[in-house]
Amino acid sequence: MIARAEIALPSYVNEILAGLSSVSKSLPCKLFYDQIGSALFEQITRLPEYYLTRTELAILEGNADEIIKTAGSPISVVELGAGTATKTRTLLRSVARRQIRVKYFPVDISPSALAEAQRGVREQFPGALVRPVIADLSHGFGFLRDISGPKLVLYLGSSIGNFDGNESTELLRKLRGELSSGDALLLGTDTVKSEEILLPAYDDRQGVTREFNKNILRRINRELGGNFDLDAFCHRVEWNAACSRMEIYLESCCEQQVLLRWTGTVIRFLQGERIHTENSYKYTDDMVCRMLARAGFQHERTWLDGQKWFALHLARVLN
Ligand code: AVJ
Repeated sequence: MIARAEIALPSYVNEILAGLSSVSKSLPCKLFYDQIGSALFEQITRLPEYYLTRTELAILEGNADEIIKTAGSPISVVELGAGTATKTRTLLRSVARRQIRVKYFPVDISPSALAEAQRGVREQFPGALVRPVIADLSHGFGFLRDISGPKLVLYLGSSIGNFDGNESTELLRKLRGELSSGDALLLGTDTVKSEEILLPAYDDRQGVTREFNKNILRRINRELGGNFDLDAFCHRVEWNAACSRMEIYLESCCEQQVLLRWTGTVIRFLQGERIHTENSYKYTDDMVCRMLARAGFQHERTWLDGQKWFALHLARVLN
């Protein structure tokens, strides 16, 4: 047995304990993205049911020159939640055609994903300046102060969809506060569509999303000495039309107790009791414009795919 004091507990331990001891249990979805979780998410992006990534990529590929022209140049490209930056390369190609030096700042919570992003972009653009930034966006955008000159900030993949209305506006407002007049934001948002398309996207036949969801428990087992039995929880997804969001849960299959050894916490579950692990908001054009306006951005243009399954919005920082 290792003495408690010798173990460096992860910084988000309080968030985990608060979430699991609350009446309706929840866990922060950013915990998904450890090395295993980031790899599982990469797998999700290639699933037949998960239309988001490939639809957004098609919009980027079809409109990259126009998007970059609208953003203006020269610009430094800052990508929030960059992941492995696979989608970004098509935009960077358009940037490379318009300015001498590509400057790319991928920002992510996952060091392993960032290493992959840096390797890939350097390989494709040998002359590019690539500076990865490891950051948790819920802690603000102070890292932007170290990046000089006009910027295009990318926030793709409907990552904003993890935040509820107030949180997302607050996040964009904080971002706005660290940008200058004329800077641009390219925001990727998923659109509202039928449940027949939405539900399978979050509950795929191969069970990759189920593994991704359960990985949060595996991570707590590893990092907090937990004894979650992954087989005693199942993956549940629901479309909440009133809130315009997909809701993702882990549901306890039986009455059970879980111990987190390194904090000495016992968590009790009733049969059928759920841990809310994620929301994924789906937006109408109106919702996006209102959110941007409240955060101090002017919406300039929208690009959609033919089926209107995904949207890219270009917004500008005013005055
Ligand atoms: C990375 C937040 C955009 O909400 O679609 C995918 C995460 N969760 N499958 C999404 C996710 C389950 C994803 N985002």
